Amino acid sequence: MREDKFLSGKRAIVTGGGRGIGKAVGMRLAMLGAETWLVGTKPDRLAEAAAGIEAAGGRARTAVADVSREEDVLRVFERAGDVDVLVNNAGIGRFAPIVSTTVEEWDLIMGVNLRGVFLCSREAMKSMAGRGGRIINIGSVVSIKGYADQGAYTASKHGLLGLSKVMAVEGRKDGIVTQVISPGGVDTDLIGDARPDLDRSGMMRPGDIADAVEYLLGQTGNAITDMVRLRRKSSAPW
Ligand SMILES: NC(=O)c1ccc[n+]([C@@H]2O[C@H](COP(=O)([O-])OP(=O)(O)OC[C@H]3O[C@@H](n4cnc5c(N)ncnc54)[C@H](OP(=O)(O)O)[C@@H]3O)[C@@H](O)[C@H]2O)c1
Repeated sequence: MREDKFLSGKRAIVTGGGRGIGKAVGMRLAMLGAETWLVGTKPDRLAEAAAGIEAAGGRARTAVADVSREEDVLRVFERAGDVDVLVNNAGIGRFAPIVSTTVEEWDLIMGVNLRGVFLCSREAMKSMAGRGGRIINIGSVVSIKGYADQGAYTASKHGLLGLSKVMAVEGRKDGIVTQVISPGGVDTDLIGDARPDLDRSGMMRPGDIADAVEYLLGQTGNAITDMVRLRRKSSAPW
């Protein structure tokens, strides 16, 4: 981890910042000096995460919003002002075979995991135009692979990857860098709720994803990483 607060004077937004991966990422960005906005639907979770950041000496703000709702997203970005870093982390996972996936479940997952990324990124790119900025989208191993019983989730994360590629190209002229982190299993409530049968003891932790976010944002040379694939240490590397 870098010692300097290289995000001092910057403003960051983390969607889904109230728990799990987003909570760890929000804490990390704040510890790196950013004024960090935590966005989510549950006010209590957001308040608790923000209090943790403040107690650790960071600066946190909260915004209650459903990222799949355009009016909510517009309100968040209007309140926050100029944004330098956006981490599109909010996501839901409901696992079922395609033949028993309802249209409502499909729309819910695509709404949060894909439309939410589009809506937040659109507003961030408007804010960053001419100034530059950084957008990190949290994909998944299923941005690349397909697993049974994860049709809607996999389609949403493949969509996130495709959208990210276009964002990276369209943002280039404005100095906006878009990158993707695609983790395998991370020990959070998402996977605990969706797959209670899994042994989570050897899984990655939210802090491992925060490490990757810090690494990406800390790149200052001529090289840029487009996507980081993260897997647990005990699994085969390729
Ligand atoms: N855990 C894994 O194994 C794993 C692996 C690869 C990728 N990921 C991805 O990592 C991201 C975070 O997942 P996690 O494991 O940390 O899950 P989590 O603990 O369930 O957290 C999900 C976060 O998303 C927020 N969220 C859900 N619906 C929202 C909505 N409509 N509007 C705004 N925020 C919303 C939640 O906030 P509220 O509770 O406040 O609504 C919560 O903070 C997701 O995109 C997930 O797909 C997870």
